[in-house]
Amino acid sequence: MRARAPAERSCRLPGPSGPDPRPRIMCAAPHAPQDNEPAAVAPAARHEHARLAELSGARPGDRVLDVGCGTGCLSRRMAKAVGVGSSVLGIDPSVPVVEYARRKTQASQCSYEAGVAEALEAADASFDVVVTSLAVHHLPEEVRPVALREMFRVLRPGGRLLVADFRPPRTRPVRHLVAAITGHVMTNYQVDLLDGLITDTGFEVRGRGDVRPWLRYVQGTRPGKA
Ligand SMILES: C[S@@+](CC[C@H](N)C(=O)[O-])C[C@H]1O[C@@H](n2cnc3c(N)ncnc32)[C@H](O)[C@@H]1O
Repeated sequence: MRARAPAERSCRLPGPSGPDPRPRIMCAAPHAPQDNEPAAVAPAARHEHARLAELSGARPGDRVLDVGCGTGCLSRRMAKAVGVGSSVLGIDPSVPVVEYARRKTQASQCSYEAGVAEALEAADASFDVVVTSLAVHHLPEEVRPVALREMFRVLRPGGRLLVADFRPPRTRPVRHLVAAITGHVMTNYQVDLLDGLITDTGFEVRGRGDVRPWLRYVQGTRPGKA
């Protein structure tokens, strides 16, 4: 997949009146990650990514696309699931993050490119599995359906989609806490709309649930035979 000249995006939340200058808490990777990332973040994320890899339904030999891959933790987990001889491509608009993911990854089947969800550079029907974790809420609302259509386009008929995203806390004190740290976009994010977004694109929803109380997932399939 050829990299489209990426617009360098800031990891900031749009607020009601322009960008919120506070950094985004859910961004596992700031845009210029250091090789000595805080180890405390990693074990929990590793558990979630292992579960997401399972939920994706990826099988040995599958070609996988990870949209908004960040530092590539989920891509690397997907590479384990599909094995050598398959391929996992992670895309992210942040060039430093993509470069970091490349440095961190030893699996030969795993590669990274700069790119955006709403204009994937991949050919139609070129992947068996598309995964995306904690990235959809980064997209402006009107861009989300465009990104989902792109995921549909690049999946082969019968291919599987896994979208995981942030579920805002339900209790008021925790909502306040999250809003204080991340801004209101995350607390107002309507993760339950994912289902509709995915079915409106043409996917069949085959499952949904929570990996953590704050991490919702929806599994889809592109209808048709491979
Ligand atoms: C919270 S991080 C999640 C990273 C990783 N998927 C994970 O679960 O740890 C969100 C990522 O979405 C990326 N992102 C933002 N806008 C995007 C877009 N238009 N297309 C694809 N990815 C985007 C950001 O650069 C960031 O790396």
